Amino acid sequence: MMKKILVINGPNLDMLGKREPEIYGAKTLDDINLEISKLCGQLGAKADFYQSNIEGELVNAIHSAADYDGCVINAGAYTHYSIAIHDAIASIKTPCIEVHLSNVHTREEYRHKSMLSPVCKGVILGLGEKSYLLAVRALLDE
Ligand code: DQA
Repeated sequence: MMKKILVINGPNLDMLGKREPEIYGAKTLDDINLEISKLCGQLGAKADFYQSNIEGELVNAIHSAADYDGCVINAGAYTHYSIAIHDAIASIKTPCIEVHLSNVHTREEYRHKSMLSPVCKGVILGLGEKSYLLAVRALLDE
């Protein structure tokens, strides 16, 4: 059966392309999602995409990832303080990979802590859109 991946993006990631391009790059979220779709196509898989700026909607999306083979999540700033998103990831069996465009460890100290890493299978960060593409490859390699 064709593997399915759910890619979830949190707050302010809908602003990619316009938002602090010196940190997050020039590509829009649609550009990145297109690259992910292409990669999935090459690897015989399919990706669905979800973005929200609202914590509870992200929790619902994570619950829906129970029906997928893998989940890639960039929870934006919620990464650093959301127990609800931690608990949502812990509530499903689907492997989740936490991703970030920027290297949060070279930035403000409040970005160094992730509530999600302890419940994710892995973490990929600091590689721009490649963080997402590598996460997809890792999930499809299982
Ligand atoms: C981010 C890093 C977070 O600290 C920040 O709040 C974001 C984006 C990243 O992809 O680098 O919104 O998750």
